[in-house]
Amino acid sequence: MRVTVKYITLARQVIASIEKGHIEANSKLPSLRVFCQLHYISMTTALACYRYLEQHDYIIAEYKKGYYVQPKKTEKRIVNFPTFQSSVRTKVIRPELQADVIGRPSLATAQLDAKLIDDAMLKRSFRAITKQADFTLKYDESQGNQRLREQLSKHFNSQGFSCPHEDLVITHGCLDAVLMALECVSKPGDVIAITSPCYSGLLDLLSVLDRAILEIPSTAEGIELKQLEQAMKGKKITACLLTANHQNPTGHSLSNQQKQQLVELATQYKIPIIEDDVFREISHQRTIPLPLKYFDQHGWVMWCSSVSKTLAPGLRIGWCLPGRFKNKYIQQRMIRTLGHNQPIQLALADYIANEYYAAHIKKVNRALAVHCSDYIEFLQLHLPKESEIFIPNGGLVLWIKISKVNTEKLTTILLQQGIDIKSGNLFSTTKLYQDCLRLNIGQIPTEQIYSQLALLCKLVQCETNR
Ligand SMILES: Cc1ncc(COP(=O)(O)O)c(C=O)c1O
Repeated sequence: MRVTVKYITLARQVIASIEKGHIEANSKLPSLRVFCQLHYISMTTALACYRYLEQHDYIIAEYKKGYYVQPKKTEKRIVNFPTFQSSVRTKVIRPELQADVIGRPSLATAQLDAKLIDDAMLKRSFRAITKQADFTLKYDESQGNQRLREQLSKHFNSQGFSCPHEDLVITHGCLDAVLMALECVSKPGDVIAITSPCYSGLLDLLSVLDRAILEIPSTAEGIELKQLEQAMKGKKITACLLTANHQNPTGHSLSNQQKQQLVELATQYKIPIIEDDVFREISHQRTIPLPLKYFDQHGWVMWCSSVSKTLAPGLRIGWCLPGRFKNKYIQQRMIRTLGHNQPIQLALADYIANEYYAAHIKKVNRALAVHCSDYIEFLQLHLPKESEIFIPNGGLVLWIKISKVNTEKLTTILLQQGIDIKSGNLFSTTKLYQDCLRLNIGQIPTEQIYSQLALLCKLVQCETNR
């Protein structure tokens, strides 16, 4: 009886410290042994206390790692995605691209803060590979350096996702992987199904390649599968270009059940799915979700990703697991590029082999989960009450809907003040998202970032009070 009282009393003390912020979200709790010593209690009491905290969702146990405080809870407010009947858009004209913002923290581009890039260990790997006896600068395999493919394969296998190195093809980033996949399975004029809204870079790519676009509505669960199936059944589309995890710009993900259904449809109707999975490993929760490719038994999914969001965009390294299109894909790479920058591939292989990559992703994800809650907390406090913020489980962006505000106009005004955000219009061929905007949350929320957010909220308040 006394044991019961003791562990609950202790658990309540820990809960109070978590709620007051004295113990930070995502931080590691003392090991059970240390907890016993700190409180002069038995292992049974310590274990009962941690179990109580776990059952009440305050902490989470990580296998062989210890106990961590859960990420901050944010009030879930679901953004209602617009419902519409999709229709094909041909000859899509895209807005002219803005010059890149380089050097200053930007709320526009989805990327990690420079401080979160692990350049010390990456530089170590660069130095290490030049000292290796077999280091050469000859042409390498067009498919990509074998050592890198093997390391990537091991890395994904450890996440429970089988990714044979013989089937992987290295590319110059994710967008390059997607471009090559599109060229493998479609030709100009063909219709490609995408989710609505969709990452602006993919829309630009489809427009440059002269592909027609069919936007399929997003839903709270993922994507409107009925409309997609109709398009597949009616042979309206040649391929799909989809993201199943932490989609850009909304941050939402498909359930495993939807992933499986989607792959079954692709198999049934023999429609390739190009999967852009660049944000999968950026998870604000403790688990890394599975890609569509995991459910693909017949090779209809071409899985594309890169290290641009997880590690460093400047490396320009990505990959594709092209499934049944492997031979054609490799042929195209041979013709197009004659392989890749070998030192960079070797350095990345060394970085992954030393387990720096896996450790880095964990560290970054922990930081991003906190940043994401901080951004949301600030925005919920300062934006008009009617604003809807989609709470993502991962990724680097926040999607916000502010009724009655023209975000294109807002973006222009903010740019004059040196603040860069993306307006909703950029993410669609329709005008459905004129009142939406996308913010990068990869930046550490510093005073400078908070003052940018404050100005954004002030301008929004002015617009809505007109
Ligand atoms: C969905 C998506 N795919 C691809 C990319 C580009 O990836 P990479 O830099 O590896 O080409 C981005 C960049 O923002 C993205 O958001």
